[in-house]
Amino acid sequence: MNTPPHVFSVRDLWKVFGPKADRVPGDAELGALDAAELRARTGCTAAVRDVSFDVRKGEVFVVMGLSGSGKSTLVRCLTRLIEPTSGEVTMDGEDVLAMNAGRLRELRRHRASMVFQHFGLLPHRSVLDNVAYGLEIQGMGRAERRERAAGVIAKVGLDGLESRRPGQLSGGQQQRVGLARALAVDPEVLLFDEPFSALDPLIRRDMQEEVVRLHREEGRTMVFITHDLNEALKLGDRIALMRDGRIVQLGTPEEIVGSPADDYVRDFVRDVPREQVVTVRAAMRPADSAESVSGPALAPDATVSEAIEAVVRTGETARVVEGGRCLGVVDHACLLGVVAGVPAVKEAV
Ligand SMILES: Nc1ncnc2c1ncn2[C@@H]1O[C@H](COP(=O)(O)OP(=O)(O)OP(=O)(O)O)[C@@H](O)[C@H]1O
Ligand SMILES: [Mg+2]
Repeated sequence: MNTPPHVFSVRDLWKVFGPKADRVPGDAELGALDAAELRARTGCTAAVRDVSFDVRKGEVFVVMGLSGSGKSTLVRCLTRLIEPTSGEVTMDGEDVLAMNAGRLRELRRHRASMVFQHFGLLPHRSVLDNVAYGLEIQGMGRAERRERAAGVIAKVGLDGLESRRPGQLSGGQQQRVGLARALAVDPEVLLFDEPFSALDPLIRRDMQEEVVRLHREEGRTMVFITHDLNEALKLGDRIALMRDGRIVQLGTPEEIVGSPADDYVRDFVRDVPREQVVTVRAAMRPADSAESVSGPALAPDATVSEAIEAVVRTGETARVVEGGRCLGVVDHACLLGVVAGVPAVKEAV
């Protein structure tokens, strides 16, 4: 399978706050200090330390980590809302750090829009005009931008609320307006900085489902910051887990939960039900000839939990099928092995 092209590529990125921040990235001794030692020695905070990754076209790339781990700083460096101290950032192959003010403005207005936790809506404007705001800044005429905004409002489920003011909306509705405003400019990438963390759990789940739906329908590239592991696992195609400014692991939810890179990650994912993340591709065993023709069929990326449901419902071993070919099967033993955290004994074929 070909890897899709990269939207963002980040190499050796550092962001250091504080006096003479420039000297930290190039200095191996300073760079090796932990946060407290570095602050004591230099008065500086290294919010992002030597980070490299690519965001692939069409993926939901999640940046996860505890408070203060550097998530917001990292994502703001992508569009230079925060100026990186050193390193490289490219978008669609173009050097972001070399862009002049005009080019950067165009990047932020047209190509990468941001959705914030605190919605940042204009209180005296209607929902419609808030959503149209980015288009107004772009210089689009009133009739056209209002028409475009109305379409996006319908897309995020705010029909009928066009003329309300933000103060007349619930938190979830306000966040939908924030989302609609970002979508209205039809950006190549949506950047979300913990957009749902102020919402109560049920509304939050609705909004997560909204993001999943939008992503499925439009295939738009998204970079999504969260400190909530469940949110990361639900939304992310890949997750970058940050600790103290570094990425300690970058992988699919299945890789992060199934093979944590170190004790920190292992501890982070300890309570995740594995069956909701591990896929049948990882759990299956080879089929014998009778098994390969009957039983419920599952796609290789179905979760073990979905497979358990199919096996219990039909009472049969389930087949893992891709392009009409049976790749293997999952039975009680393989599925229970995942739940219990022990690999099943592979039977000989
Ligand atoms: N303007 C600044 N000046 C000095 N230090 C800063 C500045 N902005 C952020 N920091 C520090 O950089 C580190 C990373 O901050 P950042 O906001 O990126 O974390 P975060 O992972 O987004 O946290 P949260 O989950 O709380 O939003 C923290 O130690 C923070 O105190
Ligand atoms: Mg933050």
